[in-house]
Amino acid sequence: MAHRPRSVREADVEGKRVLVRADLNVPLDEGRVADDARIRAALPTLELLVERGAAEIVVCSHLGRPERPDSKYAIEPVRAHLRSLLDDERIRVLENTRFDPRETANDEGYARELADGCDLYVNDAFGSAHRAHASTEAVAHVLPAYAGLLLERELEELGKLLGEVDRPFVAIAGGAKVADKIGVLESLDRRADALLVGGKMAEELRADGRGLDVELPSDVVAAAEFAEDAEAREVPFDEVPEGWLGLDIGPETRRSFADRIAGAGTIFWNGPMGVFEWPRFAAGTKAVAEAVASSEAHSVVGGGDSVRAIEELGLADRISWVSTGGGASLELLEGKELPGVAAIPEA
Ligand code: 3PG
Ligand code: MG
Repeated sequence: MAHRPRSVREADVEGKRVLVRADLNVPLDEGRVADDARIRAALPTLELLVERGAAEIVVCSHLGRPERPDSKYAIEPVRAHLRSLLDDERIRVLENTRFDPRETANDEGYARELADGCDLYVNDAFGSAHRAHASTEAVAHVLPAYAGLLLERELEELGKLLGEVDRPFVAIAGGAKVADKIGVLESLDRRADALLVGGKMAEELRADGRGLDVELPSDVVAAAEFAEDAEAREVPFDEVPEGWLGLDIGPETRRSFADRIAGAGTIFWNGPMGVFEWPRFAAGTKAVAEAVASSEAHSVVGGGDSVRAIEELGLADRISWVSTGGGASLELLEGKELPGVAAIPEA
């Protein structure tokens, strides 16, 4: 049985000062929040605390990967955006937790500084739950700790994929770096009825299948170089010209993947089918996104790039659950224990 952390719903927060760890690690563009999905996802827990009469709500998060104070990663744009969505004088947002190198060292002294003056701790940072850092792990041993509403919901929705599911269970994986994702691919290979692989990952698996039973593309859009305006042509997967690169799945693969997805009872998708930031290589990712959204299946999408594709295409409300976690959702599906979850006592 998976560890079920106790819920903020069970906490007595009235008149208390609450430290909330959210994952407000959002993309910025010229000092503004470029995608506020994670900020919006943090609101239900903050609203619950406001409604239940918390005296003070101290919110903290990391932003990017700075190793010391760095104005490029100052939390201010995130703070301002949060205030524009939920303006309550009891909410205070601390500076980027990673401005202190003790954060990633999971340092207890830093956890005590974060906890200073607070009565309890709520972890709602699902996207960071796979990190054992001071604000996600150590602090849960310093204050009475509870799971926030988003963290709970993510564990529930992703957890469903680890139990009995409606079949066929079709998993779709893309993006790059097989090495980083081999654990989750093995887990999906065991649990799913079909594992469709596109993107750079398909090329990596063609060279070395790693013993996985996957469906690779039959055709790709090959480009003469890695460039948005590169000379490109559709070719069979096995006939990519020497020195060329497959930058998207081809039309035949789009159709066969879409058919597989249409017949699914359960779907999990992580990773784009090509370089979808470039319009000429976006069709494969778009076709998969549309097939997942059109399906009647229980559909879960996790991971930064596939979620971005879903949001850019305006399909998010046709997906059963769009996870705020990338690495965290993969580690959970791999069957790993997430340190940020394990540190919270069970109910
Ligand atoms: C993410 O965006 O994946 C999470 O916020 C975790 O960030 P990290 O990979 O820098 O720890
Ligand atoms: Mg759907």
